Amino acid sequence: MRRIVVVSGQDQVQKLAHKIAQEVFVADDLAEALDITETVSPDLLVFDSRFSPDHIRQFLDTTDKNQISVPVIVIGDDRNHPGLSEDFIRMGACDYICGKQDYSRLQEIVGRITDKPKAAQMQTSLSDFFAEQYAASVKMVGRSKALRDQLKMIKLVADSCCNPVLIVGETGTGKELAAKAVHLLRHSNEQFIAVNCAALTANLLESELFGHVKGSFTGADREKTGLLELAGSGTIFLDEISEMPMDLQAKLLRVLQEKNFRKVGGTSTIPCNATIIASSNRNLQKQIRAGRFRRDLYYRLNICPINIAPLRAPGRSEDIKLLAEYFLKTSTICPEKAGRITSLTKLALEALQKHAWPGNVRELSNVIERAIMLETTDKIGLSSIMIDSPPNDESSDGPTNDHVTNFSLEKAERELISRALRETGWQKTRAAALLGITRATLYAKVKQYNIEKGLLVKADCGKQTPGEIPATHHSESVAVP
Ligand SMILES: Nc1ncnc2c1ncn2[C@@H]1O[C@H](COP(=O)(O)OP(=O)(O)OP(=O)(O)O)[C@@H](O)[C@H]1O
Ligand SMILES: [Mg+2]
Repeated sequence: MRRIVVVSGQDQVQKLAHKIAQEVFVADDLAEALDITETVSPDLLVFDSRFSPDHIRQFLDTTDKNQISVPVIVIGDDRNHPGLSEDFIRMGACDYICGKQDYSRLQEIVGRITDKPKAAQMQTSLSDFFAEQYAASVKMVGRSKALRDQLKMIKLVADSCCNPVLIVGETGTGKELAAKAVHLLRHSNEQFIAVNCAALTANLLESELFGHVKGSFTGADREKTGLLELAGSGTIFLDEISEMPMDLQAKLLRVLQEKNFRKVGGTSTIPCNATIIASSNRNLQKQIRAGRFRRDLYYRLNICPINIAPLRAPGRSEDIKLLAEYFLKTSTICPEKAGRITSLTKLALEALQKHAWPGNVRELSNVIERAIMLETTDKIGLSSIMIDSPPNDESSDGPTNDHVTNFSLEKAERELISRALRETGWQKTRAAALLGITRATLYAKVKQYNIEKGLLVKADCGKQTPGEIPATHHSESVAVP
């Protein structure tokens, strides 16, 4: 077992904990136990005989409210108290150890707790991520109103004959995912072909889309079938449509109106039966005003647009948690950790929810993958959450942004301690646990670096980027005096 929180001042209980865990954190009372639990996500909590069944119930009610699930056992004194074991178990404890004569059962209890199958828990929580009626084919995670509205629109468009379809939204919001969803719901057995309009030169893009006849231009040494034809009755996804050259926009408009086209250099007309889905992360109306996008094409595309809300939109913060957990459970970045890391600590989640996510879901997915690589425990903690500073943010003050010549270990340490204090609202027990140092060490460092609460708040005003504590992890236990 990796981490245990012992809520006891008794030497023998602490010694016992050391026998079964790599790291032991000691708390004096229930409040401190809760602080440490929220910060270090232990595998087990051990209470001593000072605590009654009601105390345990009270503690577990609070952890439940804070969405923390941690097993609790109680180690009683050597006296026999009839019915006490049952009372503790009724109040939510996993087991009760009846003094020294019962110590030998501890290993067996720990084995029972660690053997609990995690896969089963994972399965049930994963299934309610997806809006049920689309679950089979549309892996779109989220429960916010914005996401539900988006799914409704996808379904509406897919069930209709609407063609073309326009999908708009910021970068990384899931436009391609939405396009695939429309495709799957409309005609899942057909082809889905994606073309990035920004990735090809004008001529190449034209011959890719329409195909060409042999000899139609230098290098056209054989006939080519265009993607519009290859897509058949399936879908052709025109990604970044705003980057399509103006003259090609005119040709596309004709395809949309006539439902047929000619190969480059060809004379015969070919029918176009595919659903054409275009996407843009640029504001197309602005592009029209700037003379870069055809107004007529815009109106042709904009029949029933699907708008994808950015992750920072009001109400989408509940999606951040679900998406983060989904990426944790589906990531393949560290196969050896697969299925082991399934959740985040409260502080880590808060950091994710505070961020503005300019790169949207893709950025969140990257942050979670990075966290999986950095995390050494079974739960993603704040120290593994590394979020990029917003681009061009001169005021960013993270140690990683310091110029190399500015670097000093003391400065980095002071910064780290300041951040831990700030993140934990100056709760020193939590800050010490977060940093992996003793509370006494924390006090000494705060004094050494002259870190003051008022000064810190003033100095950091408006500068904080959540989750910037570097992934330093000390294995020293926190022994709270
Ligand atoms: N609601 C969601 N549930 C699960 N995964 C999502 C969701 N939204 C986006 N993603 C994932 O986020 C990543 C980015 O999505 P996608 O490529 O569709 O975005 P995009 O809007 O096309 O981005 P860009 O504008 O940069 O091309 C993909 O890995 C996608 O699967
Ligand atoms: Mg895309």
